[in-house]
Amino acid sequence: MSESRNVWEEFFANKKSGGHRSSAEEFISKEAREKLYHLDGGKTLLDFGCGAGELLVYYSLEYEKLVGADFSASMLEEAGKRIRERKRDNITLILANDKTLWEKLDTSFDRITAAGVIQYLTDEEVDDFIANASRHLNKGGKIVLFDLLDPRLYPLWKIGLFSRDFGADKILRRILFDARTTLLAALKNRPKDILGYTHKPYTIEKIANKHGFKMEYVQSMYYEYKYHAIIS
Ligand SMILES: C[S@@+](CC[C@H](N)C(=O)[O-])C[C@H]1O[C@@H](n2cnc3c(N)ncnc32)[C@H](O)[C@@H]1O
Repeated sequence: MSESRNVWEEFFANKKSGGHRSSAEEFISKEAREKLYHLDGGKTLLDFGCGAGELLVYYSLEYEKLVGADFSASMLEEAGKRIRERKRDNITLILANDKTLWEKLDTSFDRITAAGVIQYLTDEEVDDFIANASRHLNKGGKIVLFDLLDPRLYPLWKIGLFSRDFGADKILRRILFDARTTLLAALKNRPKDILGYTHKPYTIEKIANKHGFKMEYVQSMYYEYKYHAIIS
């Protein structure tokens, strides 16, 4: 297990929600609708890094059989509660990470997806993930990676360029604050916040091509600095 994975596994060990821009059901349902549009059909779905199942319960209305996988027991506990509350009986949850997941699966899927998860994998781990996913994908299936951090837009969002009240003084303050947070996190050898690594769209496309897929880049509808990679 790599050192970076230990850090993220520890980070999510007691988390209970996926950190969406808003946890209001109205917002999550809109996000789910956008994602279902890009998932574009299929009958079976694997949601890698399903977290507390916030999107998964919406996906379950459109799919016959679903598997949600996550390495955080606390997240899966929340997902279990949510699934029971909404009386969904077509979802199985698996405690696993990107390496251990594949041996625990006894089926393949029409769609393999991950929302807000790829940022916790290095380029090399994304490569392995797509290789493994391709072996568990049904003919004509798709791997749909949602909400990757775009390295071209993320720094602009970080300094507040997309915020309603941006101004030179606020931007400068944010740059200084971010530099301080980065330095303190580096000194403690800890991630500085919930947002992990950025991935260049071209790198993800190269990985997809290497495994015989094409990739479509789609700008995220609800996060200005994120994009979706639709791999088919
Ligand atoms: C930001 S949350 C998103 C959760 C969910 N997809 C959603 O949109 O609500 C990221 C999730 O990915 C999980 N995760 C991150 N890296 C992982 C890995 N290598 N293997 C399994 N789960 C992982 C975390 O535990 C967390 O639940």
